[in-house]
Amino acid sequence: MKRIGILGAMPEEINGIVSLLKDKTEVVKGMRTYYLGTINDFEVVVVFSRWGKVASATTVTHLIVEFGITELIFTGVAGAINSDLNIGDIVVANSLIQHDLDARPIMNRFEIPLLGKTILCPPKEMLDKAIQSVNELIRDESLIHLLSPKQREMFSMSKSKMVVGQVASGDHFFASSEDKENLLTILPEVLCVEMEGASVAQVCFEYNIPYVIIRTISDEANDNSVVDFKEFVFQVASRFGVEIIKKLLKK
Ligand code: ADE
Repeated sequence: MKRIGILGAMPEEINGIVSLLKDKTEVVKGMRTYYLGTINDFEVVVVFSRWGKVASATTVTHLIVEFGITELIFTGVAGAINSDLNIGDIVVANSLIQHDLDARPIMNRFEIPLLGKTILCPPKEMLDKAIQSVNELIRDESLIHLLSPKQREMFSMSKSKMVVGQVASGDHFFASSEDKENLLTILPEVLCVEMEGASVAQVCFEYNIPYVIIRTISDEANDNSVVDFKEFVFQVASRFGVEIIKKLLKK
């Protein structure tokens, strides 16, 4: 039986998804609340990942081992590294890398110990479903219509676009242009940064659980990132996350 784990990187987003659950029950363990129920007849378990690589890896391990999820969807926000990305754009990760993993000289930079890999890629079927869902939301402008004209002006958003590419994760909040430049010199292909995706991907890979990671750009990972991030997360990103989940659970 299929059971879908839904991890959200923001408590506000979790609240929105939990409000969709039928036959809801709750289990509290390890400072996390797991919400069980159904959405569109799919069995789901919804939980706030908590922030950072250790916390999110722990949460996803618990979802797999204790709740027997058979696939995982992760939504949240990210800081833009690629200069073509704007606040409100959506990145679907086709590869994930831990930018702070460095066991040189005994291994290559970014190599995950014992896996012999530097990047992890979600399975094609999950990735294709996510790309199709986000494309549909963008095509019919469902996301942008969640915002008031004032919010659109505030975040200079006229339209969202979707980009598929590399997401980098690490225990670091990017809050200066210097940070961003430094990352680009070591990982020029990275589209955006966050603090959980690649560690969640590692656990899913090790347990053979199909997964997909979808991120809405909340800031430009520069000197304004703290202000943009807080405003955007509260006002917009969590609502985008809920729409993405709703769409994916129709597929
Ligand atoms: N998540 C959202 N914005 C971020 C940033 N600037 N750095 C790291 N993680 C983020």
